[in-house]
Amino acid sequence: EKDCTITVERRFDCARDRALSEVECVERGCCYVPSPESAFGGPPWCFYPVSYPGYRMGPLSPTSRGQKATLSRPTPSYLPRDISTLQLEVMPEDTGRLHLTLKDPSSTRYEVPFVAVSSGRATGMQSRLYDVEFQPDPFGFIVRRRSNGRVLVNTTVAPLLYADQYLQLSTLLASSLVSGLGEHYTHLTLDLNWTSVTLWNRDMAPHSDANLYGSHPFCLVQDGDGHAHGIFLLNSNAMEVSLQPAPALTWVTIGGILDFYIFLGPDPQSVVQQYHQVIGYPMMPPYWSLGFHLCRWGYTSTNATRTVVQRMHQAQFPLDVQWNDLDYADKRRVFTFDPKRFGDLPEMVKEFHQQGIKYVIILDPGISSTSPPGSYKPFEEGERRGVFIKNLTGQMLIGKVWPGATAFPDFTNPDAVSWWEECIRDFHASVSLDGLWIDMNEPASFVQGSVYGCPDTDLENPPYVPDVLGGRLNSGTLCMTSVQGLSAHYNLHNLYGLTEAMATYSALLKVRRSRPFVLSRSSFPGLGRFAAHWTGDVQSDWEQLQYSIPAMLLFGLYGVPLVGADVCGFRGDTSEELCVRWTQLGAFYPFMRNHNDRPNTSQEPYVFGQLAQAAMRSVLMLRYSLLPFLYTLFHYAHTSASTVARPLFLEFPFDPNCQTIDRQFLWGSSLLISPVLEQGALELAAYLPPVTWYSLHNVNSTIMHYAIGQPYHSRGQYLLLPAPLDTINIHVREGHIIPQQVPALTTAASRSNPFLLTVALSTKGWARGELFWDDGDSLDTFEHGDYSYILFIAGQSQVVSEPVKLNRSVQGLVVGEVRVFGVPTPPAGVWANREKVMDFSYCWDTMVSNQSAQI
Ligand code: GLC
Repeated sequence: EKDCTITVERRFDCARDRALSEVECVERGCCYVPSPESAFGGPPWCFYPVSYPGYRMGPLSPTSRGQKATLSRPTPSYLPRDISTLQLEVMPEDTGRLHLTLKDPSSTRYEVPFVAVSSGRATGMQSRLYDVEFQPDPFGFIVRRRSNGRVLVNTTVAPLLYADQYLQLSTLLASSLVSGLGEHYTHLTLDLNWTSVTLWNRDMAPHSDANLYGSHPFCLVQDGDGHAHGIFLLNSNAMEVSLQPAPALTWVTIGGILDFYIFLGPDPQSVVQQYHQVIGYPMMPPYWSLGFHLCRWGYTSTNATRTVVQRMHQAQFPLDVQWNDLDYADKRRVFTFDPKRFGDLPEMVKEFHQQGIKYVIILDPGISSTSPPGSYKPFEEGERRGVFIKNLTGQMLIGKVWPGATAFPDFTNPDAVSWWEECIRDFHASVSLDGLWIDMNEPASFVQGSVYGCPDTDLENPPYVPDVLGGRLNSGTLCMTSVQGLSAHYNLHNLYGLTEAMATYSALLKVRRSRPFVLSRSSFPGLGRFAAHWTGDVQSDWEQLQYSIPAMLLFGLYGVPLVGADVCGFRGDTSEELCVRWTQLGAFYPFMRNHNDRPNTSQEPYVFGQLAQAAMRSVLMLRYSLLPFLYTLFHYAHTSASTVARPLFLEFPFDPNCQTIDRQFLWGSSLLISPVLEQGALELAAYLPPVTWYSLHNVNSTIMHYAIGQPYHSRGQYLLLPAPLDTINIHVREGHIIPQQVPALTTAASRSNPFLLTVALSTKGWARGELFWDDGDSLDTFEHGDYSYILFIAGQSQVVSEPVKLNRSVQGLVVGEVRVFGVPTPPAGVWANREKVMDFSYCWDTMVSNQSAQI
């Protein structure tokens, strides 16, 4: 007799694969209980009873990596092409990392290539942070945190399903604080009230309930008591994750294998580190890429582009990187430039370089297939070498993108990778671009599947299709049956952008012989090793401004720290106020680019009124002054997988107020950013975690006046802060030293300016900070030891710099100014390198001591 006494929140859908009548539901052996409040969405009417039959687990036996067992089904499931025998392997790969796979022992199934970069090192039982338990029949497993016995994963609540095109596993969650499973338009923590998210890379402007450009089957769960853990399902097939208030989630994927990693933290930052150990640490960006980037679709000629740069310069705005969108290309074909409007593109780029400005252009993967013979080498050469994706019958698959009919390179084919490198090398020989923007790489196509449609097979029309936008897997992309070197596009779709990023990164590396800069729209775990990401075609409105913060923070968790949204918005006209606020927030995106769609009003900083311009200029200068600090954070991301733009909960895991905050964020552990996100607002309620914070900005408003260094001794509270249009609230955390530099209009210029140290003393009078410094452009400087590393320590009325490692990169650099926040009494005198300094000041109200001296 089946047991249907299950509380509503814990009912797991037995009819997820298709709608079932009451009779069909009961035939499946499931419970049927209609609930009035959920005709659409909400709890399932048809759900699994307690102990619904599934796989039976045989005895565990040891392997070189852990243990294995065979699972078998005495009776088939209700799914077509059920796999009745499975091989379970359990691999304790590190103290905080458990790896678990479920495969078909009788035939090889597709597995995600090249994403898992470290296999870990097996650890002894004693040191593990977890215990695993198995329920043999029906099969399920439980992972517990050993320190407190808390159950983090429990899959015994619903059956494991494993058919050729339908794999499903449910688990209870330790809490409702789940972050991840992107890319979607969501908050930092997901809504678990009977929702679901689909992971399937898609060219789609960000909006709610849609699968967007990237797929990240990873989530970080805050246990709720300061601890955190992570769950990663390494699988690239179309996937749906259902969330319910139990709290619980169900993974459904329609191919590949089940390959789970569980990361035990115990703190959230360690979870991120453990995850990045698997998918790879982020690349070290070139220093210039942290400067301000300017782009739009609609800079229609070299002269129009030159004018933009000139006007930026005349208006004294920093600008490091000028971009061109598709406008440059001849008939929108990549690797060409329009002979009339962009005929002197090579000269323009040389001029920019002379002005210390870098140049990036867009590159779409779709290669035009209809140029007259002999006129378009990239296509002809590519065709000759067989680099393009083929359809099921072996012809080149033709889709449609900006230039019209196009073929798509298969970046899993080594010949395509070398052909791509040659295309980039040839183009670079005339246009000496500094970085590449790889767009439309979901891949996007304006026809469904191909210009000839797609064959009718199980790959095109699987028994179950996750809730993808457009309803079909090939909506807005290629046929699922199309053939790539490693497998069918059905399996590789979500990897297209990642493989293109890998090929582009390696091409740039070989061609330019310095640190590559690649910006990719499509993403998958591991992208951050090769590329930066922007959040696509955001609308110029206030809501999209707000959601850009969780988007940025989540990509930090996904290992892509160099990320930002199009500043001022891409689609639709921006407004002056929105653009000022967006520039203020954007100055704290790790990647800061203003980009605009063709039909819209202009939104370069210089087109606005004087007050707006002044506000934008000052925040851009503030960003430039902070770049040594930001660069050092990237060094840590690259070498130890710490996050750059950081959610508050990562830094204050024990403060329950921080768990869901995504209207504010931190840079590293020491800079708190509290932007205005609402139209007309001139103040904002900002949460200050329970330490002392010092203001990094002056405020002159009618209600209040305060200066840099103003301390707030927070008990963990919201404070109403003035935020006139020229102000973004930035606070420095006590105990930290922020290395800054006098800003200039390019990073090349600011890098030789004097440093400024901002010292935020703790209540006990201490602070510390670090600076990582190298030439900003050479490859692997850390790996080769070609860098300087300086520790700054403040205490006992001294600020000392300890050069832990020095190389040429710091030659000629000086500290021009030191300002100390939180000095209780005015100093009697100030000495720099044993010499008395006359040039210092002390501010009574803010307790700031400031001295400028050549140190
Ligand atoms: C896509 C990109 C956008 C770009 C446009 C034209 O929509 O997301 O940034 O401007 O294509 O290339």
